[in-house]
Amino acid sequence: MSRFAYVNGLYLRHPEAVVHVEDRGYQFADGVYEVCEIRDGRLIDEALHMARLERSLKELRIAQPMSLVALGVVLREVVRRNRVQDGLVYLQITRGVAPRNHAFPAEGTPPSIVVTAKSSPRSAGDLRAEKGVSVITVPENRWDRVDIKTTSLLPNVLAKQAAKEAGAYEAWFVDADGKVTEGSSTNAWIVTMDGGIVTRPAESGILRGITRTVLFEVAKAAGLRIEERAFSLDEAKAAREAFISAATAIVTPVVEIDGQPVGNGSPGTVATELRRRFHEFAAQAPARSRGG
Ligand code: PDD
Repeated sequence: MSRFAYVNGLYLRHPEAVVHVEDRGYQFADGVYEVCEIRDGRLIDEALHMARLERSLKELRIAQPMSLVALGVVLREVVRRNRVQDGLVYLQITRGVAPRNHAFPAEGTPPSIVVTAKSSPRSAGDLRAEKGVSVITVPENRWDRVDIKTTSLLPNVLAKQAAKEAGAYEAWFVDADGKVTEGSSTNAWIVTMDGGIVTRPAESGILRGITRTVLFEVAKAAGLRIEERAFSLDEAKAAREAFISAATAIVTPVVEIDGQPVGNGSPGTVATELRRRFHEFAAQAPARSRGG
């Protein structure tokens, strides 16, 4: 079956789905994006993803090309045309096409929009979670606006490749104070020996993951305690459990950090329980207000 993408108003087969050579996304990584999980053909936590998209656009002063409701229609149409039941939908908005010049293009230059979707069987993620994954660590070398979900991801790309070459699934950035910030495409968590679930505050240094936000509700309902504070790499290595969260991973246990087993070296009970409960709280509808 051929895949379809939405490109600036048209639904195109992938071979025809192209952007201009002077698109600022291509030349400057001058754009923002979102990745939403699709489950049973539905967008998970659409409202939260759209709210974050709106914020990213605002922070970078990129015009919002269409209403969030209209964007939702496009996302669902791309999911439908690609017959995705379980998988991901990707949305990217750039500052548009203009002759190359670092400064913003002329007022009124329309932003470019691309949407793609792909199936990924639930079993692959479930299997990964059952086995647990390894992470390596790399020095934090990103800019200080990682709260913006921009397509400018070179440090993340290099970190993920380093993980891959080390036979690991993810790389955690560690800042100059020895504190773990987050993964190259996931948020980082640990569970302390006394059962506290720890994740870094999202005010700075990390992306405020939507999965992370929803996990605050999941934990609360499960009677589990989340401590929002920075944790060091040493603390992570001595933790009872560790895990990562993202729309692409939901909750996936980490069983090894830099080659050392975490806890007893198998997926932890807290991470497994949070993963099991996640979709009871993640929603398609605009839903309830959330903390975190
Ligand atoms: N990444 N931190 C970073 C740096 C990320 O890139 C992501 C998501 C997250 C988790 O956010 P969320 O829970 O909203 O998915 C944290 C997406 C999935 C990606 O780049 O593919």
